[in-house]
Formats: sequence, C-alpha cells, structure tokens
Amino acid sequence: MPPVPVILAPMATTLAPRDFAALRAREFPGVCEVAYLNAAAVAPIPERTRLATEAYGQRRTRPHELKADDFDGVLERARAAAARLIGADSTEIALGSNTSFGLNLAAHALPMEPGSAVVISDREFPANVYPWMRQRERGVRLEIVPTDPLGRPDEERLLERLDRGDVSVFALSAVQFASGYCADLTRFGRFCSERGIWFVVDAIQALGQVEIDVRQAGIDILATGGHKWLCAPFGTGFAYVRRELQDRLEPHLVGWTGMQACTDYTRLLDYQYKFLPDARRYEPATHGLQDLVGLTESIQLLVEAGISRIGAHQQEVLQPLLDWLAGHPEVQVISDLSPARRTGILCFQPAGPENTFHSLADAGVVCVLREGAIRIAPHLYNTVDDVARVVSVLNRTNP
Ligand SMILES: Cc1ncc(COP(=O)(O)O)c(C=O)c1O
Repeated sequence: MPPVPVILAPMATTLAPRDFAALRAREFPGVCEVAYLNAAAVAPIPERTRLATEAYGQRRTRPHELKADDFDGVLERARAAAARLIGADSTEIALGSNTSFGLNLAAHALPMEPGSAVVISDREFPANVYPWMRQRERGVRLEIVPTDPLGRPDEERLLERLDRGDVSVFALSAVQFASGYCADLTRFGRFCSERGIWFVVDAIQALGQVEIDVRQAGIDILATGGHKWLCAPFGTGFAYVRRELQDRLEPHLVGWTGMQACTDYTRLLDYQYKFLPDARRYEPATHGLQDLVGLTESIQLLVEAGISRIGAHQQEVLQPLLDWLAGHPEVQVISDLSPARRTGILCFQPAGPENTFHSLADAGVVCVLREGAIRIAPHLYNTVDDVARVVSVLNRTNP
C-alpha cells in the first residue's frame, strides 16, 4: 500500500463562537433533556463523531470503494491526534481498545528485577491493580500504599515509599475515579526518573478535562480509553510509550501488523521476527477503523474547545454545588478542593447517600454512587442549570 500522508485537519485555537452553550446545542443535543453529569463513567459522543463513524460505516457497505486513506490514513490521523493531545510524537502512540490494553502492555513489557516492588496507591481503579498483581509470577511484589483518611493518594507517603531503593514501577491514575483527585504528575515523574523507577499513568479520568504533557511529566507509559472524558466511541483508546524505551520493551501481544515484514501486503510470507521501529509494534492487529475515525474527531473537538478552558467551564458549572456544600459542613466532601487538585469530578457523602442518589435520578440527574459517595462529573456540554438541579434536590433531601 502506498504511504498515506497525514493530513490532520487544522485545529482552530478558538471555537467560533467560543460558546459552550452553542457547542452543547450543536454537538450534544442528546444530553439536553437530562442533567447528564456522568462523564467519569461514559460521556456522549458529539454529533461530528457520530456523523464521521456513520459515514465510514456507509463507505464500508461498498468496501471495493474504500481508499488507502480509509485504512492507514485513519490510523495515522488517530495516532497524530492522540500524540498532539498529550505532547507526544505519533511514533510513540499505540492504538488500542481500552485503558487495560496500555496498562497490560506496561505490566508485561517493563523490565523488573525479581524481588523489586511495584507501588500503587490504595483505592486505584481495578484496571490499574490486577495487571500488576499478575506480575507476582515474575517474583515482583505489589505494594499498595494507604491513602489519606478521605481515600485520596497520600503523595508524601508515596514518595517516601518510592525512595527506598527497591521499586521498579510506580503506577498511578492521573485523576482518581472515586475522588477526582488530580495527582502532581510532574513531581512524581521527576522523582521516579531520578531513581530509575518506571512511571506509568492511567489517564482515562484525566484526558479531555485535564492537560497532560507526557514529556514535562516524565511519563514512561500512559494508558487511556476513549469513552469517558474524550467523548469517543467505546472500544477506542491508546497507549503512549516513550520513544527511548521502545527498543527495550518487547511487545507482549505479538501482532503481525507490528512486524517489518508485513508492511507489503502482497508479500507476507517472508517471516522475519523484527518489529516496526515505533509504537505500532505494540498494536495487536486489525483495528475498529470506523471507531478510530470517531476518536480523531472527538479529540479534535476537545482540543479546539481548549482543555484548560473546559476545566474552567467545569468549575463554573460546579459552583452552585460548591456553594451548597460550603453551607452544609455536615456533608462530607471527598474531593480535594484545592485548586491544583480539583477536577470536574466532585464527590460528596450526604447522610443516606442512596436515598439522595435515587432522588437525584427521579429529578433527571444522571450521576453515580461510587464507594459510598455521590459522584458529579460535568463536562464541556453541561450548564450551571444542570448542577442547579442537583442543588434543588439536595435542598429537599438534606435541608
Ligand atoms: C481510573 C480508571 N482506569 C480505567 C478504567 C477503565 O478501564 P478500561 O478502559 O480498561 O475499561 C476506569 C473506569 O472505567 C477508570 O476510572
């Protein structure tokens, strides 16, 4: 197949008009009927993503008309969009179907001395626990460092543990699923690189709402799925593998598309066990191309809106609830509200959280209960009125 030039549609630095209400009406009409405050579980796909994936499906009904650009071009644009989002190079992106793909890649491929420790914080999402438990087969210990009393990573305690000289890997969620706590990645990244510790980041609760620059943060491997804050189709995601590491990390899943000898589809039988010279070596094989078209569209939309602007919008939208919580000190706030730690995930524990949760659901508020707390997770399509609806329920249930 001839090489396909990567033509990433130019990204405007601003939306015209930069207006979240207009964006909501145009791209997210499906969530206008309810107060959809659940991006930390599943975000809606925007209209442009739906249209792009449907258009691909339409072309797919006539596969003889698909062009080279519908194959390699789709993959290259998805890798380029992912790379741009996190400050990486396309050659450092392996497309995969979820966060677990990248976390398993890290757990199986990173060199670890028998007897060394993998360190995680307690209360990590299970996707960032089980692949590390599996490494006990390699003689590696998994150490789970206790959180602070409210269940957030205890950064000082983690650093103290990482400093003991026997740690091979530190794996951390950039944003915690049950508290919204945003970790200081740069501080951890620097600390790890100074001590030769691999730094692995689960970024699914961050990308799309929190800026991450993998180089600045010193991340070795980052893993994400697309269906939460990236507003992308289910079964999309990617892993970042730092360029300098790739020659040292043998793929765990050996896919034929990751092999140099398989780039010419007219001659596939010259078997040679040599990987491609970039992160494509970690990709399992044939992709869900129609969904990757959607991933690219969704990332572009978010980048055009501006990730830091999305973050500011979330805080504006959350303000009525923050004010209500400030006036109700008896309600335990689980999230750390300090500016560097807060995100668009706000978790709190009213008396009788289940009853409050059901009253919220009855009032058309879509959110979830996680680990005994109500989790409110607005994104770029939400309005202050959505969160005002939460407050009016709270005024009834927890006066
Ligand atoms: C921190 C975190 N990691 C991972 C996942 C999901 O993992 P995967 O994309 O592999 O299903 C979730 C939520 O579902 C999560 O909150």
